Amino acid sequence: MAAKSASYRCSECGHAALTWTGQCPGCGAWNTLEQASSPAPGSRGRGGRSRASAPKPVALRDVKSERSERLGTGIAELDRVLGGGLVPGSLVLLGGAPGIGKSTLAGMALANLAAQGEQTLYVSGEESAAQVRRRAERLGEAALSVPMLAEPSLESVLAALEAERPAACVIDSVQTLAVPDSAPGSVGSVREATSALLETAKRLDVTLLLIGHVTKEGSLAGPRALEHLVDCVLQFEGERERTFRTLRALKNRFGATSEVGVFEMRQGGLVEVVDPSARFVGEAQPGPGSVVLCSMEGTRPLLVEVQALVAPTELVPPRRTATGVDRNRLALVLAVLTRHGGIPLSAADVFVNVAGGIRVDEPGADLAIAMAVASAHSGSALEADGKPLACFGEIGLTGEVRYVAHADRRVAEARKFGLTQVLGPPPADDAVPGLVSVTSVKRALSVGRSAPKLSRAA
Ligand code: TYD
Ligand code: MG
Repeated sequence: MAAKSASYRCSECGHAALTWTGQCPGCGAWNTLEQASSPAPGSRGRGGRSRASAPKPVALRDVKSERSERLGTGIAELDRVLGGGLVPGSLVLLGGAPGIGKSTLAGMALANLAAQGEQTLYVSGEESAAQVRRRAERLGEAALSVPMLAEPSLESVLAALEAERPAACVIDSVQTLAVPDSAPGSVGSVREATSALLETAKRLDVTLLLIGHVTKEGSLAGPRALEHLVDCVLQFEGERERTFRTLRALKNRFGATSEVGVFEMRQGGLVEVVDPSARFVGEAQPGPGSVVLCSMEGTRPLLVEVQALVAPTELVPPRRTATGVDRNRLALVLAVLTRHGGIPLSAADVFVNVAGGIRVDEPGADLAIAMAVASAHSGSALEADGKPLACFGEIGLTGEVRYVAHADRRVAEARKFGLTQVLGPPPADDAVPGLVSVTSVKRALSVGRSAPKLSRAA
């Protein structure tokens, strides 16, 4: 037992404090400190002082290594994001907005594991057993064979794990588990449930997939502190009305965090989009405000269409809408276009959108945003060989186009789809066939305007 434990905890970041303050010293949020409940019986409190004999440190080479074989979920995109499947005994947090498809993805993974002969368990605190069954019916026969528990109490889940010892268990969702003496969904209860589950999962070698809700602002509701407890944090994103979904790892103790999986929601569940570039480029039509961005998602090149609309406005300040790209990057690109590209935008609304509901989070998107906005502003299409112009590159504050990695792979992907001319920063070493290198936004704009002629000559 802890000798004297903190009695207030921040509902945003989980910061612990002895006294109440209006502003959380941990994350700076206001009025978020709440009276903390007493520590969980099974929780691994750090405050306790024990007089046990000093442990003997062990040389790293003598440490027992983790079981190397991973559990393949049968969903290649999910396995790739995880770094090659689920690590036995690991804790994975799957976050995403309501309706994005978390339960569907988790249900499909369990169904595949069950079909491989693995013991599985689906705990649903969110939906009734009948609702979960209805989803499983859409997913197919294997999903119906997954054992389920509609019992949102932490103690009963722990007991079921002890009794059933599944290889993989889904908790849908971690916010709905009832924890004694704490308000459901509160930070205290979510942390307590997670630490108890963590302890049991590690001891029994159960792989746990915790589903967590995401707030409107995009952070995992309340329990940001959960991210420290789990081995892997996956984020499922996309717009509900659109069919494309992307899965990213925000944290991964057993693999890279740069991989992205692309899915499409269909009638029979989520379908992996094996060649997303083909889907996005196939839909792109050349026209004012449309360019193709050669982006990198992890180790994979991905072509997406960036669209822009520039419309005169009387609004002060004018509207800036970014969908699928970072708002701050858009602001920077617009400032550079105005200052270094001679394009006045202060009396215009600017809308930028990545088609297909995909989110691109890399600085290499800057040049595509700039070219799409410039094209929308002038009203003339940037095209080469009947396809929208392709580009990539980061834009610096002085209007320079900066180096980004993997120029060769980006251009090769574009050429695969018949986009023969790609505007981008000069490559680091060898020349890249098909790359028209530009060192400044000004230069990119003048090359872009002559792109049709350029490609005809090529
Ligand atoms: P769901 O997995 O319940 O989302 P979450 O757990 O993230 O809240 O599914 C979300 C949506 O997907 C739901 O509106 C129904 C739709 N859906 C399909 O279109 N096809 C399907 O096969 C399934 C199972 C769901
Ligand atoms: Mg759900």
